[in-house]
This record gives sequence, structure tokens and C-alpha cells, in this order.
Amino acid sequence: MRILAIETSCDETAVSVIEATGGFTRPHFTVLAHLVSSQVKLHAEWGGVVPSLAKREHSKNLLPLVVEALRTAKVPVASREKTGHQLTLATIEEIREILEREPELLSFFLDTVPALTVPDIDAIAVTQGPGLEPALWVGINCAKALSKSWNAPVIPVNHMEGHIVSVLTSPESKVNFPAIALLISGGHTELVLVRDWHDYKILGQTRDDAVGEAFDKVARILGLPYPGGPEISRLAETEPERERDFRLPRPMMESGDFDFSFSGLKTAVLYLARKKEPLSNIDKVEIATEFQEAVIDVLLRKSVKAIEAYQPKTFIIGGGVIANQRLRQAFKEYLDDEYPKIKLLVPEAALTTDNATMIGLAAYFRALEQKELTTDFSLAAKGNLSLT
Ligand code: KG4
Ligand code: ZN
Repeated sequence: MRILAIETSCDETAVSVIEATGGFTRPHFTVLAHLVSSQVKLHAEWGGVVPSLAKREHSKNLLPLVVEALRTAKVPVASREKTGHQLTLATIEEIREILEREPELLSFFLDTVPALTVPDIDAIAVTQGPGLEPALWVGINCAKALSKSWNAPVIPVNHMEGHIVSVLTSPESKVNFPAIALLISGGHTELVLVRDWHDYKILGQTRDDAVGEAFDKVARILGLPYPGGPEISRLAETEPERERDFRLPRPMMESGDFDFSFSGLKTAVLYLARKKEPLSNIDKVEIATEFQEAVIDVLLRKSVKAIEAYQPKTFIIGGGVIANQRLRQAFKEYLDDEYPKIKLLVPEAALTTDNATMIGLAAYFRALEQKELTTDFSLAAKGNLSLT
């Protein structure tokens, strides 16, 4: 099955083309195109993602990226005569309505897509949520318009499920159930029991800030640019060998449940930074290192609790924060030592932060479950879409 996948839930406009075969137990994926157009530089000026700017950028960049992805993937195309998908005036009118709120998308669409031949794709995957609703709508409306134009079905995807399946692109990455997934990104922090594909239970989640958000906010306190995660981890790598004269809290580490809280940790950093002002470079390095250690301690402690309670065969970590090398290493060392039978799966580098390949993979699994694929043109963006 060849899938064109679209992701616009936050500040990356992403389009992938994947080819998928096999069933749930032995899926095989080939990534034919994996394009990400990041808006990070734009949002960095504001210190965080601005939803209206994100929407505008997605509208501008999405369709050109779709065209480029199809070209990169060398997707075979056929003329409209041959496929029988002629664009009638009535269909164009429907597309106009679908794209009513996306003027940039509409004008590019009308200029380009009717003239395009029809690409040989079996489905269009798109992120339905969770994420920023104005941003999600751009992807959804674009998918619906393409569906009308090419007569291909749209498969809606939960972004968090995308982060779970993002570990599946390597051939050895088979998931044995039950599995536990730790999902850590700019918007989410969740511990999920994966009893089987599409059979999830959220064990715990953050009660306030997401881990990535905490990285971003702490970076801001330290005067580092957005996004803060990579900046903090870079600083933490340069730590000099000396004892720190302070310790940050590990919020909710022994709370007895699987929930998290990171806003107190961020506030502790703020007070510490104020006390030490003006911050020297060594201060910054030490705060970044201690903050990162505090986050890792909490994530690891809660994960171990979940492992003890549910005895998983596979432990998955997904989401932008797993780009953090120290975090990866800490989990790997701990699991190797204490739970050598549990297989740890993390995504390859290109699939850690938001991308459309993971959305295509998740869509393939959804497609396997359905007898017939059709487009639901009433599909709506859901900012708070949950896994369960
Ligand atoms: O999954 P993602 O791309 O987007 C969301 O779905 O939110 O995650 C982005 C988050 C940002 O908060 C960013 O600071 C964080 O992932 N991040 C990192 C690192 N690289 C990205 N956090 C810690 N260490 C990193 N190396
Ligand atoms: Zn994400």
C-alpha cells in the first residue's frame, strides 16, 4: 500500500510517502520520501509556537511540499483520462468550499492540482490531533481536497500513535506485547500501556507542563533560544567535573501514581537563576545539567514503576525529547542492567521530532483493520484527541 502522509499539528510542515506491506506481526515499510519544513526559526523570535503564524506557514508550504514529496518518491502518475478521475466543475466547487479558510492553499491548489496527473497512491494519511487546531485544520482540509481531486481515501491519525509507531522503521524493531510507551514531546508527557495495536491505556500523564515544554521554558530562563531541548542538552554535555552546590527537586517522583509534573521544576530553576544572577556560563551549564538529570530521574523512576506493575516485553520511547542523547543512554543502561529481557525501542534520529513518516505508518495499521477505506468529509481537527 502506498500512502501519502501529512503532518501539521505543530510547527513542522511534514509530508512523507511510504510503501507498506505485511500484516500487524510482520509489517514492512519503505520510506520513499520524508520531507520536513520546519518553522522553528520563525517561532524562535517569539520564544514559542504562535498558532496563527503556524497556520499561515502550513498553508503556504504544505502543497508545494506534497508536490515535492510525490516527485522525490517517484510515485507513478497516470493521466486523468486513464484513471477516469476527471475534475468536474462540481468537484472543483466542492474543493473550493473545503479550502475556503485556507486561501493560500486554495490558490496553489487551483493553479497546480487540476493540471496534475493522478498519482498512484492508495490513501492519504493526515494528523487529526492532538495539536494546535488551526494548524491541524490546514492538513485536514488539504487531505480532503486531495481526496476529492484524486479519489483517494483519507485516513485520520492520532499524532501520539504516530510517535508510538515511529520506532518501527528498522527491520529488528518488532514490538512484543504488552508494551509500554513513554511519549515525551513539546506538548505531551504520557506513559501508555500498549496491550496490542490500537488497544491502549494511558497510565499517567503530566498534570501541567510537558517535558519538552519544560526544556523550552528552562532554556528561556537561561537566555537560550527556542527550541530549548537541543540547547540544554548541548550545554549539559560540556559539564565540568565539579560538585554542584545546589539540587533541583524531582517533582512527584515518589507520588505513587504514574502522573508527572514539571512546572514546579521550572519554577525552581527560575528562583535558582534569580539567586545566582548574573549567570556565568558555568552557572548555565550546571543548571542545565542538573535540570536534565532531574527530568531523567523522574521519567526513569515512573517508567520503572510502570514496568514493575505491567511486566512489558517491549519498552518504547517516542517524541521529540528522546532526541536527548543523555536520556537515551540513561534508559538504555538502566534497562540493560535491570531488565535485560525487555526490548528497548527508540526511533531513528529523523523520526524523533514531528514528521509525516510516523503518520503514514500509523495510518497503515489503521488501514489493515478496515475492510474498506472511505473519506469522511466531516472529519474535524481535535486539539485534545486522546489515545483512548
Ligand atoms: O515531538 P516534537 O517534535 O513536537 C511535539 O509533538 O511537541 O517535540 C518537540 C520538543 C521540543 O519541546 C524540544 O525542545 C524537544 O522536543 N527536544 C528536546 C531535544 N530535542 C528536541 N528535548 C530535550 N533534548 C533534546 N535533545
Ligand atoms: Zn510530536
